[in-house]
Amino acid sequence: MEKAKSTKYWESLSRKIQSPTETKNKRPDTSDLEISFLMNFLKADDDVLDIGSGSGLIINKLIDKVGNITAVEKYEGFTRFIVENEKMLVINAEIIGFRMRKLFDAVLCFGVAQCFERDVMADIYKDMYSMIKPGGLLIVRTHCGLEVDKIVDGFSEELQTEYYAEYRQVDKEEAMLRNLGFADVERYDIFPDTLNVWPDTRHFIFVCKKA
Ligand SMILES: C[S@@+](CC[C@H](N)C(=O)[O-])C[C@H]1O[C@@H](n2cnc3c(N)ncnc32)[C@H](O)[C@@H]1O
Repeated sequence: MEKAKSTKYWESLSRKIQSPTETKNKRPDTSDLEISFLMNFLKADDDVLDIGSGSGLIINKLIDKVGNITAVEKYEGFTRFIVENEKMLVINAEIIGFRMRKLFDAVLCFGVAQCFERDVMADIYKDMYSMIKPGGLLIVRTHCGLEVDKIVDGFSEELQTEYYAEYRQVDKEEAMLRNLGFADVERYDIFPDTLNVWPDTRHFIFVCKKA
């Protein structure tokens, strides 16, 4: 299961959010950097699945640069910020157990993996793997522990609310992805220290290529 505190946090934010950048939890919006990174890997006609789209910070900027985007996000309170575009399909659905009988050139999962416990995320990664075409990519941005797992489970002074996040140790997160059977998994460390504010954690991007 997704931790109840995590569900409650996102559900409550989705009910009161005023501006799309509020899903960044007081961290800077790095979507321009992420788009320029992604465009090293995506092509103009790619069919893209985005899991946990939130308020569309990434996909709103990506939609004119790829073929089509299917966006999966549980809360309509967030997806109302996703642009109307004939190339964009928005599905309000639970990520756990989400599968479509369709294969994508690329599956994106940005800022979502830390919402889930390891075993649950392993199953979500498995489902994502199953929806990638041969030769396609899974691109994951997640927040990891550097030396050990770091778990935030309780009242966050910074967010002034109950919060749950699991910042799993980066080598172990990479191993989870490798275990799915990808031909190649590369780890990238592209984010500025304005995002990486804690000494024991960092945001990474994993680019995983299916054989
Ligand atoms: C930090 S936001 C990331 C949003 C977006 N990908 C981005 O990079 O800006 C995490 C998102 O995961 C979504 N999420 C968390 N648990 C979920 C679940 N069980 N099913 C669907 N979406 C979920 C939250 O609603 C939230 O929109």
